[in-house]
Amino acid sequence: MDFELTEQQRLFRDGVRAFVEKEVAPFAALWDREHRFPVELMPKLGAAGLLAVQSPESTGGTGAGPIEYSLAITELARACASTSVTVAVTNLCSDVIRKFGNDAQKQRFIPRLASGEAVAGSFCLSEPHCGSDAAALRTHARRDGGDYIINGSKNWITNGGHAGVYIVMATVNRELGPKGICAFIVEKRTPGLITGKEERKMGLRASNTVSLAFEDMRVPAENLLGREGDGFRIALASLDGGRIGVASQSVGIAEAAQAAAIRYARDRKAFGEPIANFQAIQWMIADNQVDIETSRFLALRAAWLSANGKPFSREAAMAKVAASEAANRVVNRAVQIHGGYGYIGEFPVERYFRDAKVTTIYEGSSEIQRIVISREVIQGSRA
Ligand code: CAA
Repeated sequence: MDFELTEQQRLFRDGVRAFVEKEVAPFAALWDREHRFPVELMPKLGAAGLLAVQSPESTGGTGAGPIEYSLAITELARACASTSVTVAVTNLCSDVIRKFGNDAQKQRFIPRLASGEAVAGSFCLSEPHCGSDAAALRTHARRDGGDYIINGSKNWITNGGHAGVYIVMATVNRELGPKGICAFIVEKRTPGLITGKEERKMGLRASNTVSLAFEDMRVPAENLLGREGDGFRIALASLDGGRIGVASQSVGIAEAAQAAAIRYARDRKAFGEPIANFQAIQWMIADNQVDIETSRFLALRAAWLSANGKPFSREAAMAKVAASEAANRVVNRAVQIHGGYGYIGEFPVERYFRDAKVTTIYEGSSEIQRIVISREVIQGSRA
């Protein structure tokens, strides 16, 4: 058993860290304040190899693996959780195409996502009436000659207002349940693809979240991923990898909050000495560290299983539920350590606190992760 990153993985992480310190960290608070998606950053993220981390170089990707992906998302999230989700969802889309696309689809779409030419990717599963119960989606696809005609709507769509490539889940027959669902690649400017209002969110304010409507949107049949009826399996298998991303993001947010808490505890004096000298503060810092390290191990273990071709649904769910809930504890303690200063926008912990909340909600809520874990533990043989 080896708990060390390889030399190559360390170099990769350090390269991402250097990029993030220059191009992301100095602007994160401003983007958050302005609720602004930094569109100018996307080609730079592409050039840094962060938009299709796991896609092969032959398709313009970075040719790295799930561990490097996890490290990259953590580094981004330490500086700017919004940017980390923009990047994570774009990687989710390139990964869907890498894993389930045919050669033509890979050659056509992954390079655009990888370079930032497409700006971002968007994964369109949730609908106004269903998020957790994803198989209940109503967006409908009807075959018409060489095309499908898609009608319906989607909610909470990350990157939806800026994406050049969308992965859209739609059903050809609702009576078939999950088996009727298909996954399509849809390009920006497809007639009938309508971007709705941008959400004003509690956190992740520099990421873009919109609703979408599809009105007789005509998509060529060659853009179907896999076969008719494969879409639900494609979506859930892809979300397994996405959940490693959210776990890694949670680690990054928690690390940032812990660093801020330590900085403040060393500087701030009360009763004639730095508050870091008080056990009440020391124990909060210690608990934060335990939360961060356990989360990191779970995220990297799930990534390692994925990298080695082993099943990792349960482990990704465990990493996601543990790391997201841990991050919420850590940001809460970090604000507490800052006292009143933690509650105002002047210190970054206020942003970390707002950004952390959604990690227990999106890409499968904590409750959904517990369903995935308990089903496998109770019914499966891998308990
Ligand atoms: N990988 C591949 N296939 C899978 C799978 C997985 N991880 N999990 C289930 N499946 C397959 C099953 O094998 C089954 O296929 P068969 O019938 O052929 O065996 C089929 O999918 C249906 O499975 P279930 O009966 O388990 O389906 P269910 O309706 O009970 O749902 C669920 C299971 C776990 C609750 C699932 O609906 C789920 O994960 N829901 C949460 C959805 C989610 O994460 N949404 C996030 C939105 S995307 C997002 O947030 C991105 C963003 O922009 C930030």
